[in-house]
Amino acid sequence: MNADHQHIHKHSEVDLSNLMGRLLVFLLSVLALSSAVDRSNFKTCDQSGFCKRHRNPATKVEYAVIGDSVKINETSVNAVLKSAENELHLSVLFLEDSTIRVLIDENANALRARYQPLDALAREPSQQRIAESDVTRTEESVVINAPSGHTISVQFKPFRIDVQKKDELLLSLNSGSFLKFEHFRTKDESRDDGEGFWEESFKSHTDSKPHGSSSVGMDVSFVGFKFVYGLPEHADSFVLHSTAGQEPYRMYNLDVFEFELNTNMALYGSVPYIIAHNPKQSASVLWLNAAETWIDIDSSTADKGVLASLVDKFRSSQEVPQIDAHFMSESGLIDVFLFLGPTPNDVFRQYSTLTGVYPLPPQFAIAYHQCRWNYNDEEDVANVHAGFDEHDIPMDVLWLDIEHTDGKKYFTWDPVKFANPQKMINELAAKGRKMVTIIDPHIKKDDGYHVYKDAKDLGFFIKDKDGAKDYEGHCWPGASMYLDFVNPAVRDYWAGKFSYEQYSGSTKDLFTWNDMNEPSVFSGPEVTMHKDAKHYDDWEHRDIHNIYGFYQHSSTYRGQQMRSNNKLRPFVLTRSFFVGSQRTAAVWTGDNMADWGHLKSSVPMLLSLSVAGIPHVGADVGGFFKNVDEQLLARWYQAAAFQPFFRAHAHIDCKRREPWLFSEGTKNVIRDAIRTRYSFLPYWYTLFYEHSIVGKPVMRPLWSEFPEDESSFDEEREWMVGSAVLVRPVMDPDVESVSLYLPGRNEVWYEWDTHKARRSPGAVYVDTPMSKIPHFQRGGTIIPMRERIRRASSLMKDDPITLYIASNYKGDFANGSLYLDDGESYEYKNGNYLYWSFQYKKEGESLYTIKSKNLDESGVYDPDVYIEKIVIRGVRYYPRSVHMYYDDYNPETLEFSHDRDSHVMVIRKPSAFVSREFRIDIHT
Ligand SMILES: *[C@@H]1O[C@H](CO)[C@@H](O)[C@H](O)[C@H]1NC(C)=O
Ligand SMILES: *[C@@H]1O[C@H](CO)[C@@H](O)[C@H](O)[C@H]1NC(C)=O
Repeated sequence: MNADHQHIHKHSEVDLSNLMGRLLVFLLSVLALSSAVDRSNFKTCDQSGFCKRHRNPATKVEYAVIGDSVKINETSVNAVLKSAENELHLSVLFLEDSTIRVLIDENANALRARYQPLDALAREPSQQRIAESDVTRTEESVVINAPSGHTISVQFKPFRIDVQKKDELLLSLNSGSFLKFEHFRTKDESRDDGEGFWEESFKSHTDSKPHGSSSVGMDVSFVGFKFVYGLPEHADSFVLHSTAGQEPYRMYNLDVFEFELNTNMALYGSVPYIIAHNPKQSASVLWLNAAETWIDIDSSTADKGVLASLVDKFRSSQEVPQIDAHFMSESGLIDVFLFLGPTPNDVFRQYSTLTGVYPLPPQFAIAYHQCRWNYNDEEDVANVHAGFDEHDIPMDVLWLDIEHTDGKKYFTWDPVKFANPQKMINELAAKGRKMVTIIDPHIKKDDGYHVYKDAKDLGFFIKDKDGAKDYEGHCWPGASMYLDFVNPAVRDYWAGKFSYEQYSGSTKDLFTWNDMNEPSVFSGPEVTMHKDAKHYDDWEHRDIHNIYGFYQHSSTYRGQQMRSNNKLRPFVLTRSFFVGSQRTAAVWTGDNMADWGHLKSSVPMLLSLSVAGIPHVGADVGGFFKNVDEQLLARWYQAAAFQPFFRAHAHIDCKRREPWLFSEGTKNVIRDAIRTRYSFLPYWYTLFYEHSIVGKPVMRPLWSEFPEDESSFDEEREWMVGSAVLVRPVMDPDVESVSLYLPGRNEVWYEWDTHKARRSPGAVYVDTPMSKIPHFQRGGTIIPMRERIRRASSLMKDDPITLYIASNYKGDFANGSLYLDDGESYEYKNGNYLYWSFQYKKEGESLYTIKSKNLDESGVYDPDVYIEKIVIRGVRYYPRSVHMYYDDYNPETLEFSHDRDSHVMVIRKPSAFVSREFRIDIHT
């Protein structure tokens, strides 16, 4: 949530009582007069000294590897890099699963250490051995045949690293000679270090740099690629575009008021990770740095320039496309991971092995969430809660925004409006529902507030630039301090706050939303913290800025684990994020707006997050700012029903939006969209489970399922949910039909509700009355569904399953899987889960079978969940009889129907249990 002038006025007497506060109210009012983001509040590259210097070719310095310094041990190459300016240490490490790490740091005698955000990684990467015989050293280079089968050459002068696969150049580091490393130094008046090197001002704020600028930068070239993706978070196209002559992509976690679309300005979170894809190969690069980072993207061809000789040598075609990414960070060191694929799924696995997966969420987390700034009091909550039942709309979680607290003191409740929180939560829980409250990292400056008092006494706040006083800024409560989550003791303290004893009024059914954690500082430069503020261990805020929110939400997550003695799965939503945030949080795209552009933009934004390893992502349904019209709201629900995190939210000044406040027609469309989501929950849950095993996103770009289909590489209106469902929702007003692209070769797609089969590749038109969400089942797949929709997902836990089988284009095969467990505890780690597959297959001239098989014998969950119906699409034969076999004897005859026009066969009441092996024979 962000500042809005009216809101601030409403609360100004209580919230912002001092002069600074009033000044701020005035500034924000002026700001809010314009309807979109005020760009002048945010820096351009030119206003940022280090970015300007890195970008300027005139400031390039040549680095060379000192030949004598090269040392090769069993797992890495180490060497000294030298320029006219300084000396650096280079390590190239060979890691398991086609991953390479390149580290460049100052020498050990540097004035100060450089920050490395190692907590972002899931684990210490394991190194692979290289044999003596795999290394070739000459005067000019050292060449290593890596265990992955790639050839890595370190060229000495000028310094460059090339990665080749067989004879093809894949990646090249520093081929543009942009390596730049501003070393820590003491000020020398006789020397001109350039603009903003020792001190920099922006608007009324000054940033002191006692050790000078310590920025780092280097370029990475993707050779043979025309398409690159990633770098969330930007409200921009899914395919990263060239920034030549424009602003670079900026990664600096910021609270941007009414953010604009189609721009690569910074937003709330940062994952400096780029994934390149062509029909034969995927590869990606992680730039592990938590400081402000800018990235230039340039596309060219590799037949010119320094790589020409390598390309000419091996490729017949002269036109080899190339994309150069130039990373520039304000501080930290150069720590680059290269993931060499070769397939999209390989890259997803390699990246998530290093940075972690999203652990299996509790089931309610992937159901429907109802939020608003604010549900006013307990009565309001009860009414909204009852409204969903009255109108027969399922809903799992009700959310409370900042107004639920006592004066914006998190972990407290408004004593009048929320006098009986436990009772309120228990009433929700009695109907199978949950609650979420907001908990932000700014702490109200108020000696009567226990968190403030504790943190002040324990020295747990971030300090100002002199390290003497607690850093003070303005946020929702007025004067606020900010907890220093870089300090492990603060993280422990924070986690402890979630215990049932310490968070009074909380229960096991209360979960958490971490907002404003960029951190948002209304009174700070660019609405965030001063870069020279001091953290634990003498780090400056500039060093750690982009990982600040990560530390908050991961401590929140741990707090929820601790409060249940590690029995129950947590749920945390965060706005700010970094590399590895997926290990502990879902992410939403922040304060969007109720317009069609924002609905459309949610797709590329969520796809960018998904390919960058963060799978549980969503955008506020309806748009946060502004009133929403009925048509837009209905279409938004339809799109979001097929996006991983599904939550409606609205600004405090917006008209109420509960679905029943609209016309009957709109209400029904919304209800159907939400019910559709609930019917697909077993499939979603299985996808989240599979993500936790192999790191694949749940919401996928078409190219991840159809890596060779080039016409889908820039697709950002449609997406895949898993590998079986393609969605292309309506995202424009008043459209009677949409055209969409069906990807792949030799694929057949079944329109979900009509069963109509369409062959790919090709474009098709689908009529789109208000009730229609164009979505298709891919031939060759089986989807588990639940068709008895109840008021919350927890009540559907033991309901029967319906299987949707879609035969492949030959009509002879389909398969799919189902994962089930109790939906909320960690008991699945003790084997209390089931993971089964279903297969449909032509076995002979007149026999088709459906078989179930246990995919994981260590899963022993055995609920009374049975299959109540099987729908088979694409049945072009005439079934004569259907028999169920639990064993080889005593077949049971099953009832079925077959529609010759739509080629759909329905088997009723097979009464097979999902945790028992069975076989169904269909005789033709
Ligand atoms: C080789 O050097 C690297 C980098 O200095 C180090 O991390 C690694 O442990 C060393 N490996 C062995 C086997 O000594
Ligand atoms: C489905 O079949 C494909 C192709 O044979 C196979 O790769 C995949 O693992 C199968 N999936 C399941 C869930 O059995």
